[in-house]
Amino acid sequence: MNPMLRILCGTFAATALLWSVNASAGAAEGFKLMEKKACTACHNITGEVSAKTVGLWRKGPDLYYAGDKYNQNWIEGWLQKPTRIRPSGAFYLDHAQTGVKWNTLRQDSLKPHVRLSALDARNVAIALTELRDKPELIKAEHYNPDITVPIALGDMMFDKVNGCLACHSIEPNYGGLSGPELYTAAARLKPEYMLSYIRDPQAWNHKTWMPTRELSEEDMQKTVNYIISLGSQKSKDMMKNAVEQSAAKNYRVYCMQCHGISGKGSGINSRDMEVPPRNHSDSKYLKTRTDVELFKAVKEGGAAISKSALMPPWGKTLSDAEIDGLVKHIRKLCKCKFESSKPQQ
Ligand code: HEC
Ligand code: HEC
Ligand code: HEC
Repeated sequence: MNPMLRILCGTFAATALLWSVNASAGAAEGFKLMEKKACTACHNITGEVSAKTVGLWRKGPDLYYAGDKYNQNWIEGWLQKPTRIRPSGAFYLDHAQTGVKWNTLRQDSLKPHVRLSALDARNVAIALTELRDKPELIKAEHYNPDITVPIALGDMMFDKVNGCLACHSIEPNYGGLSGPELYTAAARLKPEYMLSYIRDPQAWNHKTWMPTRELSEEDMQKTVNYIISLGSQKSKDMMKNAVEQSAAKNYRVYCMQCHGISGKGSGINSRDMEVPPRNHSDSKYLKTRTDVELFKAVKEGGAAISKSALMPPWGKTLSDAEIDGLVKHIRKLCKCKFESSKPQQ
């Protein structure tokens, strides 16, 4: 070997060795500090317990598999500047109270989190990253950043199709409160952890109050990439604008021939149609139709929802995302959303 190269390699090896010595010294410091600061009074860092009602007793989220779950630099940053990521704390019932319209959270019982200095936060982050209780679950996952979904369709999957929005918020102040906010999850969590937790929450915590929803592998990858994309609000807004504009354009090109320039069902084709095209500004009717039904009508045609075949199927012309955009466009025309399948008297 070239002597210069040899010296260089030697330096690399020494640096790597020094780094690992530093890291394990950091971890030891971190564990000592967690004991001193009584982190373990609220957090479990030792391993799964066989309690029958996990959650009901815990004061802080489990950290005994922190190394499988979190990005180390997120832990380091968050401990210096903790913000609330679980709107209802470690367990929601500890903070819930009855309210006028619905149960609310008692803000006074949600205490600010202990804050650490930069050095302490660094050592604790190194220590927590060593806690890998379920590495086999992480290893079994194969995250694919390329299986993405347009944001509008992702919103629909997350909300209406899979019901995740019931418990999780996707932007500040929008969504459910009993689960952690997910618009900051990209910085916080390893994608493999998200996949694994969505696939089988009970494998991580056998009594967690997140239920298992059986999703296809593809939908699971899409959901994780959707959650990651929530991180950048700006790209979300940009995509939303683009979707809205292209929906208006698609409506002009494909739908106005029957549904009319104003969307009221009086297009140039409507004169001789036995069943008139639906008036899309008719909020009374459209309030009785779910977005999923409207989506199906546009994608598969009127016959697919037991309506007239004069409403054609658009599934080969338009993508799912474009159809989702059209459904949102129709909601704008009727200024309404789904309320109840029973027509109001
Ligand atoms: C009084 C109980 C309590 C103590 C003491 C405490 N924590 Fe926490 N910790 C919590 C709660 C509650 C949360 C959830 C905070 C939130 O999202 O608002 C949390 C969240 C965290 C998180 C983020 C995990 C997540 O997914 O929400 C980390 C990391 C963490 N704590 C580490 C520590 C460390 C390290 C210490 C000691 C220096 C410590 N905690 C001391 C209650 C506590
Ligand atoms: C009934 C409420 C509920 C529903 C519905 C729900 N979750 Fe959760 N979810 C939770 C709770 C609670 C946690 C936190 C569990 C813990 O830390 O022990 C969680 C955790 C997560 C996490 C890890 C977040 C973190 O910071 O730890 C992800 C990712 C997630 N859920 C995604 C989803 C997806 C995707 C769906 C829909 C398929 C969904 N959830 C449906 C309650 C729910
Ligand atoms: C060839 C004529 C025609 C075209 C083009 C057409 N529609 Fe229709 N559409 C109809 C008719 C007719 C109905 C009424 C069906 C019924 O009530 O049985 C209808 C009904 C609907 C409904 C109501 C479904 C329900 O739940 O009752 C929606 C939504 C809809 N159309 C959306 C669209 C969109 C979006 C486009 C453009 C991509 C489009 N239509 C293009 C003829 C058409």
